[in-house]
Amino acid sequence: MTMQTPYYQYDMALLHETLDIAKTQASRYGYTIHYAVKANANPNLLKNIASEGFGADCVSGNEIKVALDNGFNSQGIVFAGVGKTDGEIEYAIEQNIHCIHCESVQEFHVIELIAQKLNKKVRVALRINPNVDAHTHKSITTGLKENKFGMSVSEAHSILIEENRYKNIELIGLHFHIGSQIQNMEVFKNLALEVNRIQDELHSHCLPYLNLGGGLGIDYLNPTVNRLANFSDYFGTIHKWLEPGKGQSIHFELGRSLVGQCGQLYTRVLYTKTSQKRSFAVVDAGMNALIRPALYGAYHRIENISKIDQPVNQTYDVVGPICETTDSFGEEVLLPATERGDLLVIQSCGAYAESMASDYNLRERPHCVFIPNYELEKT
Ligand code: LLP
Repeated sequence: MTMQTPYYQYDMALLHETLDIAKTQASRYGYTIHYAVKANANPNLLKNIASEGFGADCVSGNEIKVALDNGFNSQGIVFAGVGKTDGEIEYAIEQNIHCIHCESVQEFHVIELIAQKLNKKVRVALRINPNVDAHTHKSITTGLKENKFGMSVSEAHSILIEENRYKNIELIGLHFHIGSQIQNMEVFKNLALEVNRIQDELHSHCLPYLNLGGGLGIDYLNPTVNRLANFSDYFGTIHKWLEPGKGQSIHFELGRSLVGQCGQLYTRVLYTKTSQKRSFAVVDAGMNALIRPALYGAYHRIENISKIDQPVNQTYDVVGPICETTDSFGEEVLLPATERGDLLVIQSCGAYAESMASDYNLRERPHCVFIPNYELEKT
C-alpha cells in the first residue's frame, strides 16, 4: 500500500529509549524533568511521555489543558510564558499546577490579584534572565539581556524582600532558560555558575525549587548515528558545577532532546526541474509542515529512500509547493538521481515540526503514523 504523503512518522520505540535514558541520567542526581509540550503536543506522544512519569512544561492555557487531558499529573505541570492572559493564570491556579513561572514584576502583581480573587494560594517561581549566551541560533536564544524573557536579578530582589506582603503567593524559587539546541556543555557550565552567583545574591538557596529550563541539543547532521542526546554529559555538567541549597529540588524542561529524533517527515517528489543554475526537487510537503529551515535556516538531513542503493552524486534544492521563496528544505542537497514519485525522508522532525505546522496556502497538515502502532495496540 502506498501511504499518502506528506506524513510525520514517529518511532515510538526510539521515543521510549530516549525517555528511559533521560530518566535514568536525571535520577542519578535526583533531578526532575518536565517535558516541554511546545516541542510536540501530539496526543499520542504526550500519553506515552506522561506514562513514563514526566512532568510537563506548558506555555499556554491550552497546553496545560492538553497535558492534563493526556495523562500528565497537575502537580507535575509548570507554566511559563512572557504574555500569560488573566484567563490563563486563572485556569492554571484552578488546576492547582506545580507552579507558575512569573516573568515580570507586573505579572507578579496580576497573579497575586487573581489568586486573591479566587481565594487561593498559588506557588510561583521567578523567571530570571541570567544574561548567559547560549551560543546558538539568535532566534532561539532567550537568556540575554536584550531578550524579552524573564526579569532582572534586581527586579527579583525587589519581589523577594517583600515576600511577606503577598498573602496569596507562595514564592518557591527561581527559574532560568537560556535557549535551545545547545550542544556545547560549556554553556551549561556557565549557566550553572551564573545561577550559583544569582542564588548567592538573592539568598534563594533556602527556597525549595530551582528550575534550569531546557535547551539540550540533538545531532541534526548525523541523526541515525547519534540518535540520543547527550543526557549523561548534560546532567553531569550541571551536577558538577551547580551548588544548590540543601533540599532544593532541581527541575529541567526538556523538549527537543526528548522527542527530536523520534520523528521524521516523509514527502514525495512531485516534479524535478533544472534552471540555468540549479536542479530542483519539488516535494509535496511545504514549510507549513516543517518551518525550521525557512524560519531559522535550520539544517535537516534529507534522504531519498526510493533510491537507497544508488550513488549519491547529484545536488538538488529540495523545495515545497508553497508560494514563498523560503519554502525550501535545503539547498544543494546531495541525493541520488531523483525522479518524480520518489519518497524522501526528512530527518529529526520530532520537535518543532508538527507543533509549528500551519495550514498556510490552505494546505492540509500532514497526518501521523506511529511505529510500532501504539494507537492500535492500545485500542
Ligand atoms: N523551557 C522554556 C521556557 C522554553 O522557552 C523552551 C523552548 C524550553 C523549555 C524547551 O527547550 P528545548 O529543550 O526544546 O530546547 N522553535 C525553535 C525552538 C524554540 C524553543 C522555544 N523554547 C526551533 O525549532 O528550533
